[in-house]
Amino acid sequence: MSLNDPIDPVLAPATAAAPVRETEPKAQAIGGLPSRFSCFVTGTDTEIGKTLVSSAILHKLVAGGARACGMKPIAAGAEMRDGELHNEDADMLIEAGNVHLPADLTTPYMLRAAAAPHIAAALEGVAIQPVPIIAAYAEIAAASDAVVVEGVGGFRVPLSDDFDTADLAAQLNLPVILVVGLRLGCISHSLLTIEAIVARNLVLAGWVVNEIDPDMQFADENVEALLQRIPAPLLGRVPFMNNPTAAKAAEYIDLDGLPGWPPARD
Ligand SMILES: Nc1ncnc2c1ncn2[C@@H]1O[C@H](COP(=O)(O)OP(=O)(O)O)[C@@H](O)[C@H]1O
Ligand SMILES: [Mg+2]
Repeated sequence: MSLNDPIDPVLAPATAAAPVRETEPKAQAIGGLPSRFSCFVTGTDTEIGKTLVSSAILHKLVAGGARACGMKPIAAGAEMRDGELHNEDADMLIEAGNVHLPADLTTPYMLRAAAAPHIAAALEGVAIQPVPIIAAYAEIAAASDAVVVEGVGGFRVPLSDDFDTADLAAQLNLPVILVVGLRLGCISHSLLTIEAIVARNLVLAGWVVNEIDPDMQFADENVEALLQRIPAPLLGRVPFMNNPTAAKAAEYIDLDGLPGWPPARD
């Protein structure tokens, strides 16, 4: 699939895509800001391609002339370089976007330990809270035409005793893009994640298959099973790549028809 190709009609979910799109609200930023393209990228697990797909979406936004900014609100696993804390995911999103804002906006919670976020935060005596993230998001949205927010781990990763990643997506109220890491077990992980998205009245804008496992057997059959069950459009299928980059992954993703796509400049 190339950048401009429509989604393969054979691969497109036959029953569900159209009705879902008809009822989708327009992409909307919180706080009365103008409509723009924003999404919350979640995944079936950690290490399945959320950062790659988020970067690919940013790449497409930039290629289309938008002012695009990635946000990795919570990053666990940061190291000090040149006097600043760096995290691989946050750095990759920064590289793919073209609006460069202070790191404490794009990653309000930059945690050193590469552990579950609530554990990494506790180690630093920090409590992860929604308000600083939502405030930072609003600032980013005001400075950009499009914002891509990458979640952390899977959809229900705890952030504190009473707040998790799904709560964060709900508070940001963004359309969700689900990255399915194509490997054994991904069907159940996908469907459970979608149940959790729907239970929070969030819109599943679409899903991307990422071929994370080069030895996956029955890959097409798995995708077919997902197509039959996921009530949202398949936005692309990213193959396994020896040296994956945002630009290469972007060639396999098609966002035409998503709410707010392509984003208009102010
Ligand atoms: N399609 C792919 N082909 C090859 N390697 C991939 C692919 N997608 C992701 N990877 C690699 O897998 C690892 C995890 O991907 P990443 O995007 O960081 O996942 P997540 O953000 O879900 O933790 C990275 O090293 C990335 O380069
Ligand atoms: Mg990531």
